[in-house]
Amino acid sequence: MQLLIDMIKIIAQSLAEVLGLGFNLLNKDHRLKAGYGSKRVLSKKHKGYGVGHLNLKMSDSDKSMLIVGPSGTGKSTCFYMNTMFSSDANFAVLDGSGELLKNNGGALVERGYTIYVINANNADESTDGWNPIKALKTSSENSKSFATILVNNAMKKTSDVFWNLSSIDTIAFFTDYMFEALPEEEHTMFNLKNLLQDFAGNGEAFDKKFADPNKVSDKTYRAYKSFVASDVKITSGVLANCLAALSVFDNPDVARVTSTHTFSMEHFINNEKQAVFIQNSVLSQEYLRPVNSLFFYFFWETMMRDKRPETSPLCMFLIDEASSIYLGNMLPLALVNLRKHFGTICLGIQSFQQLQSMYSHEQAVNILQNCHVKVFLRNLDINFSKMISDMLGAYTYRDDSSDSNRNRQLMPADVIRSMKENECLLFVGGKRGVLIKNLKPFYKIKSYLKLSKIPMPVMAKSPLPMPEYVSDNADTNDEL
Ligand SMILES: Nc1ncnc2c1ncn2[C@@H]1O[C@H](COP(=O)(O)OP(=O)(O)O)[C@@H](O)[C@H]1O
Ligand SMILES: [Mg+2]
Repeated sequence: MQLLIDMIKIIAQSLAEVLGLGFNLLNKDHRLKAGYGSKRVLSKKHKGYGVGHLNLKMSDSDKSMLIVGPSGTGKSTCFYMNTMFSSDANFAVLDGSGELLKNNGGALVERGYTIYVINANNADESTDGWNPIKALKTSSENSKSFATILVNNAMKKTSDVFWNLSSIDTIAFFTDYMFEALPEEEHTMFNLKNLLQDFAGNGEAFDKKFADPNKVSDKTYRAYKSFVASDVKITSGVLANCLAALSVFDNPDVARVTSTHTFSMEHFINNEKQAVFIQNSVLSQEYLRPVNSLFFYFFWETMMRDKRPETSPLCMFLIDEASSIYLGNMLPLALVNLRKHFGTICLGIQSFQQLQSMYSHEQAVNILQNCHVKVFLRNLDINFSKMISDMLGAYTYRDDSSDSNRNRQLMPADVIRSMKENECLLFVGGKRGVLIKNLKPFYKIKSYLKLSKIPMPVMAKSPLPMPEYVSDNADTNDEL
């Protein structure tokens, strides 16, 4: 009898222990799971930015997005292409290597989109031209902000402020001179560059031109006078900087694409089903940065200039390789303000350091913070991974061996760095980070793969002739 009682006691004790253990495990599990955000921010039904085979809500996609991942980690194939396969917005795409048009162009045409291609690396591949000078004329910007983009793209961040500002002023008053004194057909970047080059070669020939009150405003004349009154060492140094900032427009393809103005940003933002691809070759991305920067600067300025009607199409700016543009303070500003004008930017960068080296550390943090949606892919630098780990936060668990509560990072930096190919972290607004474990590139999604194979029809192309430069010096000589 005693034996039976002992056996029942042992069984009861074991049962209690098992139940207790189960309860503990449940408890711990519960705390663990509480750390990540819900995957329900993504769905097949949504029409916002594509994340693998799913999409974000429209209300999460009308604010800006940042994707950070080294080359080859899936920025183009899991996000940008999938967005164009599944969303109905208008797309303005910075397509550095041409793969986005190649994979998405045919499907977009089939869905009724009008496609424009502006390729400053190969004018013959372009369907349209876009003249920054014409864009400046219709914008609310002055020639100084225009010159600032050109100079900041050419000069190092560390260069002397004096040279920087003087170069901006000089390009600005030459642009004003061009508007005031030269016929409209000569308003091109190619001409602006040649004007400055002629001035550097034979400055005195311009004295008479700038002094003509019938053609040149008093303001422009005074800016000119004050410039030529400087020491020759200064004027020649500043002119060398200006010519460096404009040198890209000497390239025949760039000159052709920027001297004809057939692409209309106003038309683009007011009509549905439009997609424009700004193409460069991978090698010329840095060289063409001034052209790319001017393009997006005026695009965002056009969006924000006037109040757009409620029915305006949403414009998604897909900047796959954000290092191909440099816009200083305009970028963080546009990231938050475009939303009010039915625009949203999706920036792709290879590392956080890439932003820091182009902008300041503060501006880079500002850009990061101004993006409502953030995606982090694998193989990022360990310090940045630590920051992501902090963003994910920690969880508390009970350590029975020491009888105390302990804190543990939800995902330590080394685990973030070594995420698998189909994993990424997604942060939407202030919500907790989501660990995505089945991120799919377009070529692993049957319907998208099929869409990517639709061939691109031959597109009508506007003629883009090489501009002719009418030398101002020749003019002067005629008059003598
Ligand atoms: N059609 C395809 N089939 C198989 N693999 C592909 C295809 N297209 C791209 N890839 C691979 O997908 C990977 C991710 O590429 P990608 O999205 O272009 O990276 P990122 O844009 O971040 O540089 C690359 O390693 C590339 O080789
Ligand atoms: Mg890419």
